[in-house]
Amino acid sequence: MQPAFRTIRRFYFILSLAMIVIAPTSQAVQSPFDTLIEKIMMEYPALQGNIQSDIINGQTVFFADTKEAGSLLVSEFIVKTLQDNYQKGQSSVLGLATGSTPLIVYKNLVTAFQNGALSTQNLTTFNLDEYLGLAANHPASYAFFMYQNLFQYLDISDERIHIPSAPPKKTDESIAEYQQLLGQTQRDIQLLGLGKNGHIAFNEPGSPATSRTRLVKLDESTRIANSRYFESPEQVPEHAITMGIADILESKINIIMAWGEGKAEAVKRAITGPISSDCPASFLQQHNKTIWFIDQKAGKML
Ligand code: F6R
Repeated sequence: MQPAFRTIRRFYFILSLAMIVIAPTSQAVQSPFDTLIEKIMMEYPALQGNIQSDIINGQTVFFADTKEAGSLLVSEFIVKTLQDNYQKGQSSVLGLATGSTPLIVYKNLVTAFQNGALSTQNLTTFNLDEYLGLAANHPASYAFFMYQNLFQYLDISDERIHIPSAPPKKTDESIAEYQQLLGQTQRDIQLLGLGKNGHIAFNEPGSPATSRTRLVKLDESTRIANSRYFESPEQVPEHAITMGIADILESKINIIMAWGEGKAEAVKRAITGPISSDCPASFLQQHNKTIWFIDQKAGKML
């Protein structure tokens, strides 16, 4: 990159950061969120040339040159939020997603834990969703994914890990129990990925804003997209249990990530499109602390 261009870019980065600091979603006062992001940016000079920010349609959007840079900002945000709570003697509640999108974030959280930068003793987690009919030891189940990529490395007991499940003949009870536990706590941060069809969690197009944890039928497009984790497309379950849109909107902060060109259209619809069940992620426009972390490719239609 030309030095002059780099300088201009840095100027715009600082300017846009200042805009977030000054006017995050129309608030005049700097919020703890802005202070934290600013602090992380200052701590990691490598992020400064690689991340730009903007406010689009009232939502804060961070554009990262790479998913590694975007994931670093997200994981540092999580680590600092959790550590802050820990130092104050408070507990933390994290909402977690699965799929390819949060993988680098989880890797970074494991590293932070192993380096002593993150304590998980006071942490409780709630996962977004799970396939119906897959046992926790099935390699494509989300319970297995979470154990493989995160939980096995952390100091967190099973009682503090919550993943929706639906044991045969006990589906309703299990969903009710999950919903009750979720309602008793407030998540500090909910992590989200974005489906190409605009879904968040397994809230497929058509999901209402008032939806709660429930059994859903998966879109064919979702089954096809996720068939990469199964031996054949027919093995992808037809149903799943998912947190609802209303549940997601109850988190204090929603962090939604999207990497790659394949997500560009969904990102555009979610951020700038009408708020509608046709694109469930558009309901995040109603949440005053939704933060988007996307790479340039996913943001190319904005
Ligand atoms: C997974 C989940 C889904 C994924 C979405 C994107 O828990 O809630 O909404 O976030 O399907 O999947 P990836 O990250 O594999 O592109």
